[in-house]
Amino acid sequence: MSQLTGYLAAKDFIAELRQEIALYPDLVIQRELNDLIVVSGPIKDLCWSQNTWIDIQSRAFQSITEAAKILKAHSKFWAQYGVAHFRRGELIQNSLPKWKITARSFLGELPKYPLSSFCLEDSNTLWFSACCSSPFPNGQIQFIEDKTNPPSRAYLKLWEIFTLSKKAPKAGEICVDLGSSPGGWTWVLANCGAIVTSVDKAELAPQVLKMKNVHAMKKDAFSIRPGDLSALGIRAEKIDWLCSDIICYPAKLYELILSWIESGRVKNFVITIKFQGETDFATLAKFRAISGSRLQHLCHNKHEVTWSYFT
Ligand SMILES: C[S@@+](CC[C@H](N)C(=O)[O-])C[C@H]1O[C@@H](n2cnc3c(N)ncnc32)[C@H](O)[C@@H]1O
Repeated sequence: MSQLTGYLAAKDFIAELRQEIALYPDLVIQRELNDLIVVSGPIKDLCWSQNTWIDIQSRAFQSITEAAKILKAHSKFWAQYGVAHFRRGELIQNSLPKWKITARSFLGELPKYPLSSFCLEDSNTLWFSACCSSPFPNGQIQFIEDKTNPPSRAYLKLWEIFTLSKKAPKAGEICVDLGSSPGGWTWVLANCGAIVTSVDKAELAPQVLKMKNVHAMKKDAFSIRPGDLSALGIRAEKIDWLCSDIICYPAKLYELILSWIESGRVKNFVITIKFQGETDFATLAKFRAISGSRLQHLCHNKHEVTWSYFT
């Protein structure tokens, strides 16, 4: 059998992960361990996977000591993904070196050491991967939240992608935030020191509206011609960041973003693609095909994914 990879579905999105796997004829599902799907075939960057377990292996064991010995031989720090026999898994976890991952601050450092993952299929069968895509247990980053200042919890999506990618707007950079009300994203961008043009048909929250580097425009985002930055009151040739959290059909959003890409006037994009009802895999494939870009379901995404392109 070719190499095995475990894909841990984002919470509540196992069906999407299965559908995404089915898009690739070279991937074959071998096992499902709750939300962890074990697949043979080449590794893929699947957007509905919250943590990808590279080179996942299974091993029979008789005792807690034996299981811990197997894991220690492969890596130092381990996190259990609870499938079955969670208590037995905890006893194994307690026999392994201790680690602590605390809630992060925005743009704070990521954990310095890799975190490996294991689960129990039954009381004597261990599945494990020493090398996982996320440095957080089961792919879940947690933040020290600001419960006072941002007007919506949507700000956590930008905190997550900027912190994970270690890229964020710098002071003085030009940002356009489409579909910005009530203003969580605009609040993040403005707090980075960027100059933000915030576009929505609805109002911004007063505390965001009064930030000195925020310029609010009550407009339909689809009425803006990407070539015409002056219509947004922007004198520069290029926008450093185009962000969009607009609620609209994915296909319509794709056309909008394509027109911005073709204008050649945007350096970086962070775009939420939202679904009502069925997940639109056909449009996701079009976004994915844009060279150099990435699709991911962030921990703070709901039934939506984040498309990003960084220069
Ligand atoms: C999920 S909310 C955005 C939340 C925002 N990012 C935040 O952090 O607070 C989606 C927004 O898209 C806006 N929207 C929908 N269609 C739009 C359009 N054609 N032009 C501008 N804004 C639009 C809605 O008015 C709504 O405020």
